[in-house]
Amino acid sequence: MKLAERYDIAAPIYDRTAWVLSLGGIDKLHPALVAGLELSGKTVADLGCGTGLAFPALIEAIGPSGRVIGLDNNAAILAKAEKRVTEHGWNNVKLVVDDIATTPLLPDIDVVFSCIAMSCVPDPSEKLDELLGNLKPGTVVRIIDALPRTRGFGFRAINGYNFLKSFIVGSHYKKLEPFERVFRERLSNVVVDSVHGGMYTRLTGVKA
Ligand SMILES: C[S@@+](CC[C@H](N)C(=O)[O-])C[C@H]1O[C@@H](n2cnc3c(N)ncnc32)[C@H](O)[C@@H]1O
Repeated sequence: MKLAERYDIAAPIYDRTAWVLSLGGIDKLHPALVAGLELSGKTVADLGCGTGLAFPALIEAIGPSGRVIGLDNNAAILAKAEKRVTEHGWNNVKLVVDDIATTPLLPDIDVVFSCIAMSCVPDPSEKLDELLGNLKPGTVVRIIDALPRTRGFGFRAINGYNFLKSFIVGSHYKKLEPFERVFRERLSNVVVDSVHGGMYTRLTGVKA
């Protein structure tokens, strides 16, 4: 089944399913997206925003003068995000149907976020390389994804679980190393750490 068809089916139940499949980790991922960053007044992109589960954390962090661009290539999923935006009365959120791999909007963004979405893109580290190349200097980039690790408590069990999960969610279970290499080649001040007991990896950097 194609990824788009999978997310068409998942749209009505995504929020609950994400909680179950992440073993409760989804609640930690979005606070971890914004943690430690100075985001007040910034324009931030959420690539592969899904139903907008990260928006509450983003909206709080950017404040009233900031803007969120939520991008996703699945219209059914984005309709759920639209509903969330309308219900909360957020007038500083713009939703865009587009592909992460080819979107032209990135040069105008201050901060690029992507949470468990980059691994859905075929050849993710190659696409990430192109994407980071298009950013303006000073852009902050933070990605959180389920990427295999080679160390840390229980990493083999976590890798096994994430590998099996990738068949359900339709992601490409790629190694951490190519992502980290692209971050280190394209960005400065790179930090790689983990979220939810090592189940997810967070990569942060700044375009020099
Ligand atoms: C696992 S969900 C994550 C949603 C959200 N970021 C979150 O934290 O809940 C992955 C999302 O990425 C989107 N996606 C997958 N491939 C994409 C692509 N090439 N371009 C844009 N969005 C994509 C899917 O439609 C889906 O909404």
